Amino acid sequence: MAGETAVGLVAFLVAGARPNFMKIAPIYREARRRGGVVCRLIHTGQHYDYEMSQTFFQDLELPEPDVFLKAGSGSHAVQTARIMTAFEKVCQSACPDLVIVVGDVNSTLACSLVAKKLLIRVAHVEAGLRSFDRTMPEEINRIVTDAVADEFFVTEESGVENLRREGRPEERIHFVGNVMIDNLMFQLERLQSDEEARFSTAGLKNRLGTYLFLTLHRPSNVDQAETFQGIAAALNEAAERFPILFPMHPRTRKMVKHHGVRLSERVHVLPPLGFRESLYLWKDAAAVLTDSGGLQEETTALGVPCVTIRENTERPVTLSLGTNILAGNRKSGILQALDRALRADRSRFQVPPKWDGQAARRIWEALLGEDPKVARPV
Ligand code: UD1
Repeated sequence: MAGETAVGLVAFLVAGARPNFMKIAPIYREARRRGGVVCRLIHTGQHYDYEMSQTFFQDLELPEPDVFLKAGSGSHAVQTARIMTAFEKVCQSACPDLVIVVGDVNSTLACSLVAKKLLIRVAHVEAGLRSFDRTMPEEINRIVTDAVADEFFVTEESGVENLRREGRPEERIHFVGNVMIDNLMFQLERLQSDEEARFSTAGLKNRLGTYLFLTLHRPSNVDQAETFQGIAAALNEAAERFPILFPMHPRTRKMVKHHGVRLSERVHVLPPLGFRESLYLWKDAAAVLTDSGGLQEETTALGVPCVTIRENTERPVTLSLGTNILAGNRKSGILQALDRALRADRSRFQVPPKWDGQAARRIWEALLGEDPKVARPV
């Protein structure tokens, strides 16, 4: 890569953890489609298991990353430092014009800081979201990334307001829509023409009929025994009503063992699933229970009722327009929210503005100076 004679802008597109991969896929595809930019994929290695990483590259039709930093797991400081050290070397040798980071994981923070200190322009996709909960590692990552980024690509109105309040320049804030939804639309089309029967969960899905779909991995939900036991009690009771399909994150699997959490046999624990198989299951669920950020948005886009097992959300549009209900993480709150979700009138849900599959196109228009609001520095 060093010494490459590229024509046009050289951009590094950074991804490290599972939810990043869905966000970079449409940005990468659009860059390939339009030319004028050479887009290099940088995988920090924050997630590394086959089920957490490679399977996504296949499902999302992404090529092998150009650079793999092998950061791996560790405490926040260790993981962030490993990513920073490795990424700095790559930036110094390849001198990109632009670094694009997405979302709010440790890789997002680490690579923004490195790039900015090397005077490289930083674009943050999914900028401006705030949970206002600084006990959440992702909130720190969002705040720090937005403190140093140059261009802010925003998914919903609340992000624009937050960035304005924090004093970011108006001409750098771009309300472009949501690349998660670009990806969802692309994948839905593929899924319809896909051989659904090949999924390992196809038999189970058909046998269960009506079911709930669950994801759970936030430290605030699974790391403390008492909290996790309360959530498990809610899930076991909910499962009496409808069986639950539960692809389990590695952090959660460890914590189930560690705390001795017991789940009813009507909670079907699955390994982490690829993007398409997961979509195949949740799109037809009676309701989704989750603590993921992305699923709150994706369920809103498809009109699937969603119960968020958290005290807050950085994605308030999913509550005001979409299908999302905040449940907190106590048993009674979760069961009440689920009851509401199952009784919801689906005709009242709306898809938020600009969640139309065109976000990646708008991002590149802005970055390459085709959007009159953005002048590209020379
Ligand atoms: C990270 C993100 C979180 C995101 C989540 C999605 C941060 C601060 N957190 O949390 O925002 O919602 O990814 O999954 O960046 N592990 C494996 N295999 C892997 C990756 C992790 O076994 O491929 C295990 C490791 O033991 C690790 C634990 O899972 O200690 C947690 O991984 P880590 O990347 O630290 O955080 P996540 O909980 O995955």
